[in-house]
Amino acid sequence: MSALEIRGLNHSFKDLEVLKNIDISVQEGEFVSIVGPSGSGKSTLFHLIGGVLTPTSGSIEINNEPVKRGKIGYMPQQPALMPWRTIEKNVVVAREISGKSDLTLAREWLGKVGLEQFAKSYPHQLSGGMQQRVAFLRALISDQELLCLDEPFSALDAMTRAEMHRWLLDIWEANRRAVLFVTHNIEEALLLSDTVYAFSHRPATVVEKITVPFDRPRRDEVVDDPSFVKLRRRLTDLMTGTPR
Ligand SMILES: Nc1ncnc2c1ncn2[C@@H]1O[C@H](COP(=O)(O)OP(=O)(O)O)[C@@H](O)[C@H]1O
Ligand SMILES: [Mg+2]
Repeated sequence: MSALEIRGLNHSFKDLEVLKNIDISVQEGEFVSIVGPSGSGKSTLFHLIGGVLTPTSGSIEINNEPVKRGKIGYMPQQPALMPWRTIEKNVVVAREISGKSDLTLAREWLGKVGLEQFAKSYPHQLSGGMQQRVAFLRALISDQELLCLDEPFSALDAMTRAEMHRWLLDIWEANRRAVLFVTHNIEEALLLSDTVYAFSHRPATVVEKITVPFDRPRRDEVVDDPSFVKLRRRLTDLMTGTPR
């Protein structure tokens, strides 16, 4: 069963054509990235998958059913934690909406990721990287099949981002959820994913689908592998439209 199946998707805002004939699928337990220039329509795609926008045409199915609101675990670009809630209460918020609030589960997960001492802290007491971990946990334990992560690390400095990559890979490799990850960072997409879709400038089309050939668990050194370097070059050329 596919976690996500998008076929022939088109979307326009009035006469601004944003997404054009997009086909994407994410299998159960697969990590898929979309890499595309900024303004190409990546966040719009998430709003369509999350059911807050209705596509101009085409179909989107989650677990073989047409999309409805609230069927994805969503992590936005900014952690968007609620400042008046403690960390543990931020982690469970998506489960409260589905009537399954569970602070024990929140504490268990905070423990697994080394944030147990912050369970009763407030978001402003945490660093940017820690807040992103909390936002990711919130999406992870939301109990939805498909996790949609929208450029979650783009506001972090390079070192924190590298730490977050390791952290995310470790958690994901142990849990194998279906993930759709959006980024404008080609290296990040190749490092994390099983499959990478490259988007063109707006109106975005899929210019390439790449099956990433590297073993799991992924080693940090994979970025120096000649075939990694070659794929990175190829995607860079495709996205900037450089002819070869
Ligand atoms: N609600 C909206 N109404 C009109 N235009 C929008 C709306 N949301 C996004 N856009 C436009 O659609 C294009 C794609 O935006 P977006 O999906 O946010 O791109 P990305 O996430 O790839 O940077 C941009 O030109 C943006 O200005
Ligand atoms: Mg965006």
